[in-house]
Amino acid sequence: MKIIPSPPRATWSRHWVFILACIGSAVGLGNIWRFPYITGLHGGGSFLVLYLAAVLFVGIPALLVELTAGKALRAEAVNAFRKMLRDKWWVSALPLALCLLILSYYLVIMGWTLFYAFFSLGGNHIPFSEAASGWALPLAGIACLALVELVSRMDIKDGLEKVNIYLFPIFFGSLVFILLHSLTLPGFSEAVSYLTTINMGEVTSPLNIINAITQAVFSLSVGMAVMLTYGSYLGKKADVFHSSLAIAVSDAAIAITGALVIFTISFTFSIPVSSGPQLAFESLPLAFLSLEYGEFLMPLFFILLLSAAITSAVSLSETLVDNLKIKTGSRRTASGAMLLLLLVFFIPSALSYSPLAADFTLNGIPFLEFMDAEIVGRLAPLVVVATIVSITWGWNGCRRELRKALPGFLVSPVYLMAKYIVPVAILTLQVLGFFS
Ligand code: PHE
Repeated sequence: MKIIPSPPRATWSRHWVFILACIGSAVGLGNIWRFPYITGLHGGGSFLVLYLAAVLFVGIPALLVELTAGKALRAEAVNAFRKMLRDKWWVSALPLALCLLILSYYLVIMGWTLFYAFFSLGGNHIPFSEAASGWALPLAGIACLALVELVSRMDIKDGLEKVNIYLFPIFFGSLVFILLHSLTLPGFSEAVSYLTTINMGEVTSPLNIINAITQAVFSLSVGMAVMLTYGSYLGKKADVFHSSLAIAVSDAAIAITGALVIFTISFTFSIPVSSGPQLAFESLPLAFLSLEYGEFLMPLFFILLLSAAITSAVSLSETLVDNLKIKTGSRRTASGAMLLLLLVFFIPSALSYSPLAADFTLNGIPFLEFMDAEIVGRLAPLVVVATIVSITWGWNGCRRELRKALPGFLVSPVYLMAKYIVPVAILTLQVLGFFS
């Protein structure tokens, strides 16, 4: 077995910065934009129950094994897979390709939030369709691309860590402020009852279950080599168990808070909660504007979204650059290469809603929605299976390292979940969902 020696790896400057960066990666557009719109489309409380079960039974075991593998192998994803799978490094192409695809449209939506954060500062709201007819939205996306490119050129201490340390307080402060405000709105109790009403028919639908698993893994950033990479910057003594719990609990709590805020506003202003991906950009801003202090709340909401999106985007770019630099030799050229690869998918996504691309749809839906729903929605669970099967079946040290990382009574349950139950359950559901 030929193992390519990895150069000395960077290490997080503090353990709490690692936890913050993982929370930063997990908490993103997935929590505030994707979770509410998917929950609105798939039955409110019923979907919430499925999502929480998916976090507990799929997300947390996957996070534990991925961080444990990252910490023990201390290598780029490509080399970590090479070590685990006796040279079959190419399996790592699956999670890495998914990172590239996610980042390509994530940056587009991040551009929308930048545009809206900027224009709402003056108390203006530009309807999405009007904004999409000009060049401003794609240009804002390019600004986001440039920002991510800039951060990914820097070492983790100067780039990634600083971005998380500066942006987290902004994100958290805005979230608490907006939450407190929404508690005073008439739609709050309706939002609570929407999120706690459960319909058995919806809870047992394989399609809803698979959607909940996709949402849980997307939101926790697991199975896509991002956590493998973040774990690989850990020191020998780092505590993976408590960190994973902190990451999973924060991510789920913030998703629920995001959904509560968005549904409260939707119910207060009778906006249909199932309006899909544009929910946060089309109808919500207008609702914000008509609230007391609206000209302040609206930009705050977009600043919240933007800060959450940046810390997630840089985790995807870090994973890509870390691996590309094996070939290119330096971070700078690696991030240049990432830029070129990203552009291939970024451009059609960025033009998805522009009149220029009015006739360009896939399966009848705009390119960006196709990427999110059809490509990522379908591939993410399968890529998660590929990643955790590689770790639990391929890597001899898995059980030994889990024993070091977890309290004794959890070693077997987590190992068995990750090795057998999660892969079999995902594959079965995928097949059932396909036929339903
Ligand atoms: N977890 C991020 C979010 O919720 C998105 C993401 C997915 C980031 C996969 C990294 C890897 O928005």
